[in-house]
Amino acid sequence: MTRRYTDLVHADDLAALAGSLTTTRLGRTHEHHAELGSTNDRALAWLASPTGPPDGTLITADAQTAGRGRLGRAWSSPAGRDLYASVVLRCGRVPNGFGALSLAVGVGLREGLVRALAGIEGLPALELKWPNDLLLGERKLAGILCESRWRGGEVDVVVGFGINVHRRLDEFEPELRERATSLAIHVPDDRRPGRAALLTAILHELERWLERFFVGGFPAIRSHYEPHCVVLGREVWVDRPSAKGTERIAAIAIGLDPDGALRVRPRTGEPFRVESADIWLTEPE
Ligand code: BTN
Repeated sequence: MTRRYTDLVHADDLAALAGSLTTTRLGRTHEHHAELGSTNDRALAWLASPTGPPDGTLITADAQTAGRGRLGRAWSSPAGRDLYASVVLRCGRVPNGFGALSLAVGVGLREGLVRALAGIEGLPALELKWPNDLLLGERKLAGILCESRWRGGEVDVVVGFGINVHRRLDEFEPELRERATSLAIHVPDDRRPGRAALLTAILHELERWLERFFVGGFPAIRSHYEPHCVVLGREVWVDRPSAKGTERIAAIAIGLDPDGALRVRPRTGEPFRVESADIWLTEPE
């Protein structure tokens, strides 16, 4: 029996997701684990097997013991508090504008959260921090980790995302407390969507925005990225390749190129493109 979305609003049980899905591509094959090392690692291992997972396969876990973020960082993943998910995209031949995929995932996640949180008043701005974070009130709410595997001219991608849902500030590791946030910090328990409701809304929007992106590349999703991109028009700190390796410089983020690269203008010198990097909104220590 298909349950109505409203029945699920507070549902947290990801194993029961099938009854609420509104997608045709994403999540139709779903593997849920009480505990995994990393949902991305599980998806990559499955991709390495002889048949591999079907396109759109979703892997979720209540806890991760080796959750990974970008640049080899750890992603803290305590049991039952937050959302840890990976979706497999069997893209075939390299899609149009492929390099901006994580921006399209950001739009899908943001639109899904907006859908799930509709009607909740007083929330701070939900923004996209180029290239792969979602911020709520200028603190990190979610992160995206896209990992590709090539076979000849074809590519498979694991789209992993972690969203802080039920964790309270004192449940974050001390070093994250200054920078992280969660829905629990802003939405009271009786109004906060459960993880299953959130994931249902997110997969719905992610499917929609990926479809647009694979047809038209970044220009096809720009209208839903740019207005919410927190770095545009602001001073950012960025690591730029230099003769000594890298140099960290301050620059104004002045725009996004048609392939999704960030264009920045340093205090002195010519504007340049940043294709994939960590950028900071305040000078890092
Ligand atoms: C980042 O901000 O650096 C990206 C974080 C991505 C975390 C998610 S949680 C689900 C999936 N499995 C992982 O090991 N990582 C991603």
